[in-house]
Amino acid sequence: MSDFFTIRWLVEGAVSMIDQRLLPHQVVYNTYQTPEGVSGAIRDMVIRGAPAIGVAAAYGLALVPCRSESDTPEEIIRKLEDAADMLRRSRPTAVNLVWALERILDLVHRRSFSSPIEIRDLVLEEANRIAEEDVAVNLALGKFGQELIPDRAVIIHHCNTGSLAAVDYGTALGVIRLAHEGGKDIFVYVDETRPRLQGGRLTAWELLQYGIPFQVIADSASGHFMQSGGVDLCIVGADRVAANGDVANKIGTYNLAVVAHENEVPFYVAVPKSTIDRSIPSGELIVIEERPPEEITHVGDWQITPENTPVGNPAFDITPARYITAFITEAGIIKPPYSEHLAKLFQED
Ligand code: MRU
Repeated sequence: MSDFFTIRWLVEGAVSMIDQRLLPHQVVYNTYQTPEGVSGAIRDMVIRGAPAIGVAAAYGLALVPCRSESDTPEEIIRKLEDAADMLRRSRPTAVNLVWALERILDLVHRRSFSSPIEIRDLVLEEANRIAEEDVAVNLALGKFGQELIPDRAVIIHHCNTGSLAAVDYGTALGVIRLAHEGGKDIFVYVDETRPRLQGGRLTAWELLQYGIPFQVIADSASGHFMQSGGVDLCIVGADRVAANGDVANKIGTYNLAVVAHENEVPFYVAVPKSTIDRSIPSGELIVIEERPPEEITHVGDWQITPENTPVGNPAFDITPARYITAFITEAGIIKPPYSEHLAKLFQED
């Protein structure tokens, strides 16, 4: 386990999250007692990363029956549906958010209840299950990923996909961490990941704690390192994978994938099955979140652009499936053709 935690349910009926806006300089845990508070934490990126957002949404729903014990079961279910609508709107791109909400609502709709306590226990149990499964799934995909990581590998990683983006281990960074824990001598180039600097702030913070050798690089430097011949592979996570294998991930992923392709560097995407959205046929249909202009005009409190500078700030981009060498999932390594092989992943469900 990591020495910190990303998100945790508190026995008194509240959710605690490490405030990722303050890392790496301050380690502060915020407590949320309402789904509105959790929704705000997701929107403001106190918590971020697709799997972590899913778990936060699940706990956000679990707060509803904890605060409505005098209501009838029908009233609580209506409040759960309203809270799910609100939580769903917190951020649009990561499908894990919707996936977790629907998993809980489906369960509630399939049961009948004689008391509010029964709903409370069911929703909390399911939210806890989603959180526990996240760690197990990440460990499973991390183990499958080992066959793609040679000893002495030099790896480029984008954004933060580690424990901070999940309950523990994470996806792409989980693969890297397990390689290190398994004795491989690896080195990571960490894209700083403008504009929110998830790489420079969060991935660097995690790698220092795990003792994994790395350098933070400007996003625009990754092409240089690949062209110089010193990079063995790139590995990233995803916020949503379309049925054809197109990937929505942190802005800059597309650039990285194209340059990796140009330099014949393998490009891997590590995802839990919950990030694969079979209802979306291809990437251009994925909604890309537009974030506030201040993320571009300012670094921290420091304004770097002239006053009134027009800004475009898409938080994610789409990497076409043809640039992806393989997906690493908890069910194994998936190679092209993706439409067929991703669909097969769900056949036994
Ligand atoms: O805007 P963020 O920080 O939530 O974006 C996170 C990413 O793009 C991650 O790569 C993705 O969610 C996968 S995390 C395991």
